[in-house]
Parts: sequence; C-alpha cells; structure tokens
Amino acid sequence: MSQNQATDDATQGADRAPSAGAYSAAGVTISGLHKSFGDNEVLKGIDMEVAPGEVVCLIGASGSGKSTLLRCVNRLENPNAGTITVGEHEATHPDVNLDAMRRQIGMVFQQFNLFPHLSVLENCTITPRRVLGQSKAESEAEAMAQLDTVGLKHLSDRRPDQLSGGQQQRVAIARALTMKPQLMLFDEPTSALDPETVGDVLASMRKLAEAGMTMLVVTHEMGFAREVADRVVFMDQGLVVEEGPATDVIGNPQQPRTQDFLRRVLNPLAE
Ligand SMILES: Nc1ncnc2c1ncn2[C@@H]1O[C@H](COP(=O)(O)OP(=O)(O)OP(=O)(O)O)[C@@H](O)[C@H]1O
Ligand SMILES: [Mg+2]
Repeated sequence: MSQNQATDDATQGADRAPSAGAYSAAGVTISGLHKSFGDNEVLKGIDMEVAPGEVVCLIGASGSGKSTLLRCVNRLENPNAGTITVGEHEATHPDVNLDAMRRQIGMVFQQFNLFPHLSVLENCTITPRRVLGQSKAESEAEAMAQLDTVGLKHLSDRRPDQLSGGQQQRVAIARALTMKPQLMLFDEPTSALDPETVGDVLASMRKLAEAGMTMLVVTHEMGFAREVADRVVFMDQGLVVEEGPATDVIGNPQQPRTQDFLRRVLNPLAE
C-alpha cells in the first residue's frame, strides 16, 4: 500500500462516526490502573478512554503490558489500584456483577479455543443456549447470521480441524458476536495465522468496526491500525507513551520510544 493510500484510509477511519452502526456499543474508561505480579509492576498508572463505537489499536513491545491491560478490562486479572468502567458496569467495584459485565464483552485471543468435537455451528450456539437460554432454533438463526457476517455460513457443518487458522479465527469472532457484546477485545488475533489467511480476519474486523462496535485491539498489524483505528495508543513498560490518530502515532511519532518501536516493527532487518 502506498503512503498516500494509507493516509487517506487512516483519515477515513478517524472520520467514521462513532456509534453510527448496528451495535449497541459500550465505552470504556480506565483511570490510574496499576497491576503488579509479585514485585513486577506491569501497569504503572494507565489512563485510557474508548468511546462507544470507537476503535482503538494498542501497540507496544513485548512485555509492555498490553495483554494484562486487556485482561484487567474483563477482570481476568484483578488490578491493584485504579478504576475501569465498561458501559454501565464499574469493573473494579467490589460488588460488580462480573457475569453480567462479561456478557457485554467479547474477547478474541491469538489462540481461538474452539471446541474441537463440535461443529462450527455448535461452537457458535452452545454459549447463547446455556448462558442466554436461547432455543435451538433461535441460537442457530443468530449463529448463521454471524457466520454470514464473517463469510463462513457455508462451512457451518465443518469441525474446527477442517478449517484454516484464519477461518477458525473468524468462527471465534462470530462466536463472540452471538452473545451480542457491546465491546470487543482482540489480543493479537492474527499473529498465529499463516500470512495468506490474515487478510480475511482483518476484513471481518474492519466490517465490525464499520458497523459501530467498540473495539480495543492489540495488534502488530500497522496497516490495519492505519486504516481502521480511530486512535492508536503506544504503550511501553506499563505506561501510555503516546496516543492519537494513526496518521500521527504511526505516520509521525513524536516520542523517541515510539519512533524506536516503529522503526523495529516496520524494518525488522534494520540495525
Ligand atoms: N500471570 C502472570 N504472572 C506473572 N507475570 C505475568 C503474568 N502475566 C503477565 N506477566 C508479566 O507481565 C509483563 C507484561 O506481560 P503482558 O503479557 O501483559 O505483555 P504484552 O505487552 O502483552 O506482551 P506480548 O506482546 O509479548 O504479548 C511481562 O513481564 C509478563 O511476564
Ligand atoms: Mg500480549
């Protein structure tokens, strides 16, 4: 992609009206977030806002705390200090209804964690049936609609091992969407995939962004961040170092640590 095309696309991403689409999107507010594992302080006071319908890409070196931050948002990790709210829920409140909050949050990881013994369709209906109490017919109709969104309706009878990695990841996205989340968290969803299957996964994510979903995406896909993110946040050693539109943070970073990181990501073979 040319520099000009990337810039144009990034501008389009930034201009997309938040909350314009099909989803009832929730915002996220993170303030003063600290998280330590033993003596290792991994998050050192993170402040971050994601507006309803906004797409924020989180970038940063390995070990900078990106996954830990995402895991704190749905309380897979317990923060040591700070507050996080997701829509109506204060995730860090001692009395928070974690089940209700987590139902609003879809999470897609590097590993797709599909049930190997279930078909694609069954993978997408099992949780809505068990957790939302949907009937078989209702859950199947919803699952087929979401599989259609990611372009996999025709493979609904297959088992996961009969799909490519990229197809499995799109099933994982469809599965998350069947729970009607108001926020989607992605943690390096394409980094375990064969290169030729990455594009279809990113296309599904772009479609979701265009439909107005709130998305917080940890990614090394700088092209995706440029084209789809409303904002890019660069983290280093547990702190937010720089944030802004992709055109600024990726195209013209101001902080030396961001410049250094991008130089290494964009030119891995350079000195
Ligand atoms: N459950 C845990 N117990 C102890 N230390 C942990 C745990 N989870 C993460 N850490 C440590 O926290 C730090 C940040 O890890 P984290 O996985 O959040 O980084 P990251 O930015 O996602 O890195 P990567 O790009 O490699 O995925 C690392 O030093 C890691 O070893
Ligand atoms: Mg990580």
